[in-house]
Amino acid sequence: MVGGAGYVGSHVVRALLEAGHEPVVYDNLSTGHMEAVCDSEVIIGDVGDRDKLRTVLQARRFDGVVHLAAASLVAESMREPSVYFRNNVSASIVLFDELIRADVPWVVLSSTAAVYGEPEVVPIPEEHPTRPTNPYGESKLMLERILKWYDVAYGFKHISLRYFNAAGAHPSGQIGEDHMPETHLIPIVLQVALGLRDFVTVFGIDYPTPDGSAVRDYVHVCDLADAHVRAITRLCATGTSSVYNLGSARGYSVREIVDVAQQVVGMPIKSVVADRRAGDPPILVADNRKALSELQWMPQFDLEAIVETAWRWHRDHPQGYGNRRSSI
Ligand SMILES: NC(=O)c1ccc[n+]([C@@H]2O[C@H](COP(=O)([O-])OP(=O)(O)OC[C@H]3O[C@@H](n4cnc5c(N)ncnc54)[C@H](O)[C@@H]3O)[C@@H](O)[C@H]2O)c1
Repeated sequence: MVGGAGYVGSHVVRALLEAGHEPVVYDNLSTGHMEAVCDSEVIIGDVGDRDKLRTVLQARRFDGVVHLAAASLVAESMREPSVYFRNNVSASIVLFDELIRADVPWVVLSSTAAVYGEPEVVPIPEEHPTRPTNPYGESKLMLERILKWYDVAYGFKHISLRYFNAAGAHPSGQIGEDHMPETHLIPIVLQVALGLRDFVTVFGIDYPTPDGSAVRDYVHVCDLADAHVRAITRLCATGTSSVYNLGSARGYSVREIVDVAQQVVGMPIKSVVADRRAGDPPILVADNRKALSELQWMPQFDLEAIVETAWRWHRDHPQGYGNRRSSI
């Protein structure tokens, strides 16, 4: 579980424990939280630290690796592409090479809908052309391609999971999203409800969508976690590399998200309109049929449940895990 102390990773840890696996988290805690993975063994280390990886991999045998570690802020990647190619690509090559050296047979990679860029068709199927519009998406696409050739050359198997917008929190209320800075819509909307922000900015209301605001596909983080367990089962059963979209196949506009959040929290949430952001496509929605048929995956949480679970987490943990490095 490389990057297991992060938002998605901590939910994958829970799902793996529930499925009877024994995950070990390896994370440099750059954006992750120890408190999110207190049920699991944690090794603090960097993906690019070859010596540390070798020591860990020599000490015991791993069935495979789930690799979630990455820098993942789109705007930051535009300003600092070097950070993204080093942290996401170069460091991952070190990881893959050490896994192969240690005879670890497979990896499940956290990829992203950002590999597609501006979609030509929506819903977006896996075979859609991949033309990322930012270094973050490009870094993930490079990893997918590297893994393809590592399979050809070394028989190293992979499943790349292209997440759409991860959202929501564990229904227990114990773990959830705590990013600094927070760039994801639902936590931002809920932070307005908590009085931690004055308003939510709606970037663009002149898109060719029903209400003019941009439409995205929100998938509950526990549904994502469940897909990882299924991907591992499939890799172990078939030994076949593949790539899957993980989305709900339903799109919701920014304004719809604000409306649902207002209903869930029972109070008005102030929004302010601003210009479109460069590179933001009007609509991103997954064609998820491949995951449904090959992983027998079925998202369980609808938008209301996504916002409700997120609200429970943010209401009870307004400062996240309480170790914020700066204020919002
Ligand atoms: N959250 C989303 O909506 C979303 C959507 C698409 C794809 N993804 C991908 O899913 C993965 C997880 O996303 P998240 O939202 O949980 O992010 P996150 O920042 O919460 O988690 C990433 C984890 O990786 C760790 N990490 C980062 N660089 C590392 C390094 N060099 N060595 C060791 N550990 C390192 C961080 O400390 C953190 O615990 C990322 O790869 C991201 O690109 C996320």
